[in-house]
Amino acid sequence: MNTAVPQQKPQKTVTLIDNETGKKFDLPIIDGSTGPRVIDIRKLYAETGMFTYDPGFTSTAACDSGLTYIDGDKGILLHRGYSIKELALKSDFLEVCHLLLNGELPNKQQKDEFVNTVTRHTMVHEQMQFFFRGFRRDSHPMAVMVGTVGALSAFYHDSLNIDDPRQREIAAFRLIAKMPTIAAMVYKYSIGQPFMYPRNDLSYSENFLYMTFAVPSEPYKISPILARAMDRILILHADHEQNASTSTVRLAGSSRANPFACIASGIASLWGPAHGGANEAVLFMLKEIGDKSRIPEYIKRSKDKNDSFRLMGFGHRVYKNYDPRAEIMRDTCYEVLGELGIKDPLLELAMELEKIALKDDYFIEKKLYPNVDFYSGIILRAMGFPTNMFTVLFAVARTVGWISQWNEMIQEPTQKIGRPRQLYTGPVERPFTPLDRRK
Ligand code: CMC
Repeated sequence: MNTAVPQQKPQKTVTLIDNETGKKFDLPIIDGSTGPRVIDIRKLYAETGMFTYDPGFTSTAACDSGLTYIDGDKGILLHRGYSIKELALKSDFLEVCHLLLNGELPNKQQKDEFVNTVTRHTMVHEQMQFFFRGFRRDSHPMAVMVGTVGALSAFYHDSLNIDDPRQREIAAFRLIAKMPTIAAMVYKYSIGQPFMYPRNDLSYSENFLYMTFAVPSEPYKISPILARAMDRILILHADHEQNASTSTVRLAGSSRANPFACIASGIASLWGPAHGGANEAVLFMLKEIGDKSRIPEYIKRSKDKNDSFRLMGFGHRVYKNYDPRAEIMRDTCYEVLGELGIKDPLLELAMELEKIALKDDYFIEKKLYPNVDFYSGIILRAMGFPTNMFTVLFAVARTVGWISQWNEMIQEPTQKIGRPRQLYTGPVERPFTPLDRRK
């Protein structure tokens, strides 16, 4: 038996010097499995009486996570170590869900079980349809998504105990399985067509297309190319590390709120045009530009600091290179348009815009490349989705990422409620002025 005591590695530190007092503080450095190291500042306030200041979290790792890795400079995105390109081209969405939730790709038996379980949860409580009827039919679909997904916690009381791993697992299955059903219901409600019940003989993506576009009065033929494209779109949006909506889900969950409420908070955060709402904004922008001859005018506007216009679908907080998802999205775009025999002038406009922007010094210098949302809207439009449904599709796909990240956080033994601090810039304490003496 080897009784040698393992050599304790000397702890790596970084030294912080307060130039005012001359005091020195050693802060530990922690290595991840790859990517930038982090400075552990958990004891900083206790030892120095100071906070760090990082609005927008541009230099802050808010948690540790084993799900997704991004190297923004190289344009790399890995889920549990697998490249997004390999997953998008060789796997399917439910396999990716298994991978994100459980850490490994499923073997044949695990996959059959996983698919079977998700499939058995696709229906929503019958009472949900009455809930829908309370919304105006012209509501934005994301508004209805926030409300109805949040309402799941009112329908599924038996999966709200976050300390029970089995209940957490059932909540995850329910969310992944019911999101397409709810999304399709949102669409059907908005156009006044009857809701279509899920069909469990279809794959996840086929079923989603069926519930969205079929009507009870006639048969609906699902194109395998469109189902494959939908599956790929779902894979490409499945998770993306600690983005705004995922961080929202984690923060909501850190207070031990139930998973359905947390996912509803993620949907609300995703809705913004700087995040998931960008796919919708890209299409509005392309329609507004309207013609190749007007591209230079819009490029000029996007560079003008006095103009709030930005080139939608361009730039990313983390990617300072081509977003690897955008590349696959562009190829899928060609496939879908080819299958449908569509020649979309917006695609040509988008390609020309991309070409011009990528040669422009401003975009080169600021490392602004097309992101995942640049081409997704064109594909979804060709498939028949109205613009206001685009972000809903993003939410359907991202649900697995949100719930996997939430699960990871809940199981963290040292998990605490998220409670950032602030740099206070308001008035210091002052006496109260009675109303008759206020100026
Ligand atoms: N068009 C023109 N200029 C831009 C753009 C753009 N799309 N994006 C960034 N910039 C400029 C920005 O003005 C700033 O310039 P300066 O340094 O002179 O102030 C510089 O590039 C850095 O931008 P930032 O806003 O400080 O960067 P950020 O990391 O805070 O913002 C972003 C990232 C995605 C919000 C931003 O690039 C953007 O608004 N893009 C358009 C919206 C979009 O496509 N969003 C989808 C993101 S991908 C899907 C998702 O994950 O949700």
